[in-house]
Amino acid sequence: MKDGTAEDYALLHELEKPYLALTADRVLDELRRQGDATLEGYRITRMTHGLQSATRAERDGADIDWIVGALLHDIGDGLAPQNHDRFSAEVIRAFVRWDVAWVVEHHGIFQMLYYAHHYGWDRNARDRFRDHPCFDSCAEFCERWDQSSFDPDYDTLPLEHFEPMLREVFARKAYDPDVIREGYVSPLTAG
Ligand SMILES: [Fe+2]
Ligand SMILES: [Fe+2]
Repeated sequence: MKDGTAEDYALLHELEKPYLALTADRVLDELRRQGDATLEGYRITRMTHGLQSATRAERDGADIDWIVGALLHDIGDGLAPQNHDRFSAEVIRAFVRWDVAWVVEHHGIFQMLYYAHHYGWDRNARDRFRDHPCFDSCAEFCERWDQSSFDPDYDTLPLEHFEPMLREVFARKAYDPDVIREGYVSPLTAG
């Protein structure tokens, strides 16, 4: 790389634009892949779990950042199953509000409330974040949209319904301060 000229890098910069523009397509491909190969033992695929989370978010009156955050909160399960929450957060971090990325990043620890005691682990591991401004949002996210979204009988909306929202989010300017709104904690639901 150190032998590259300014012209070389200008060319690479140009070629990167169409590549970046296809990020939404690659994320959609990964979601669809989660509908084919998925974690055994659950009654629905990981893709349907994400769709169901997003459906519940939408029906609760959540805004587009929360809906896409819910849709993609487990997108990292395929490539980073041991730290999927942080991986998923990095996928969306440049394009969604700060608190949504924080909640996705930490949902794994907050989800422990529902099952960790069955393994002899600390189900209250989330308590280390008690003083964080997004604590309540993450607790609510997990309660309303994550832990509840493994129901094969729920009326889950299809991927096509969420695709325009996903594309809108990934078409945003990366790390736009007006999108990120660092420090602002938004409500999850309209009510
Ligand atoms: Fe998760
Ligand atoms: Fe989940």
